[in-house]
Amino acid sequence: MKELLLAAEKGKYGVGAFSVANMEMVLGAVSAAEELCSPMILQVAQVRLPHSPLPVFAPLLLAAANNAKVPVAVHFDHGTELSCIEQALQLGFTSVMIDASKYSIEENIRLTRQVKAMADKHGAAVEAEVGQLGSTEDGKADGEAMYSDPKEVRRLYEETGVDSIALSIGNAHGLYKKEPKLNFEILQASKELVAVPLVLHGGSGISDEDFRNCIRHGIRKINVATATFLAVEQAARDYVTHAQHPDYFLLSETMRLGAYENVKRHMLVFGSDGKACV
Ligand code: 13P
Repeated sequence: MKELLLAAEKGKYGVGAFSVANMEMVLGAVSAAEELCSPMILQVAQVRLPHSPLPVFAPLLLAAANNAKVPVAVHFDHGTELSCIEQALQLGFTSVMIDASKYSIEENIRLTRQVKAMADKHGAAVEAEVGQLGSTEDGKADGEAMYSDPKEVRRLYEETGVDSIALSIGNAHGLYKKEPKLNFEILQASKELVAVPLVLHGGSGISDEDFRNCIRHGIRKINVATATFLAVEQAARDYVTHAQHPDYFLLSETMRLGAYENVKRHMLVFGSDGKACV
């Protein structure tokens, strides 16, 4: 993860962090990265573990990453429980997120430091978040969005030594109810105060222009989940609706293609294509 994001910083592009939930999505995402010669991050969020249990899913993610022809980092997204984060580290994730953004900055820093110490033992990277997105990471529950305060972003950076920081700048998880209006001043100000890559969550539904603007202002990791889940579900639905004799293995192939197309489309916007071949 550290190397992928440092290279992105140097090359001024964004690396897609694609949330996946099953083998079709993993294979589809990796084939897009290989075709475009793009680095990539595969991730699963703690909230998704009931559907993708870590002891089963982690080996699949790691095998896909290790066998890929391009660099792939495996990231544990939105960890809120230290026991889950520790399990992800022990299973070999190369990066973990501690999401303590709902707490005061002091508590956020305290928990982030704890996770940093845990991750250091495994040589893994840590992402933390400052400010709160207006929705939970499965997009199901609304909350009050709290924009990141650049001074708190600097505090977290200086007092924890994390490897990347996620911001709240008007982005939200799940489907946007109205067109997102991103606050580029907060992004710019935060960028000037820290020397680590910045992360944009809630990638589904952000316009190509806003993605490019975010990358111009220093975003290096971009999380995309809902768009892939929807693409896979839509592809499956179309297949089952129209196939005369639905076949499980063709359905599986269709889902793989759904993930592939969505991941590829985002990589081209993020400018990461061709960056794994040099
Ligand atoms: P979306 O579901 O809105 O793409 O958000 C993904 C995300 O930020 C996961 O952490």
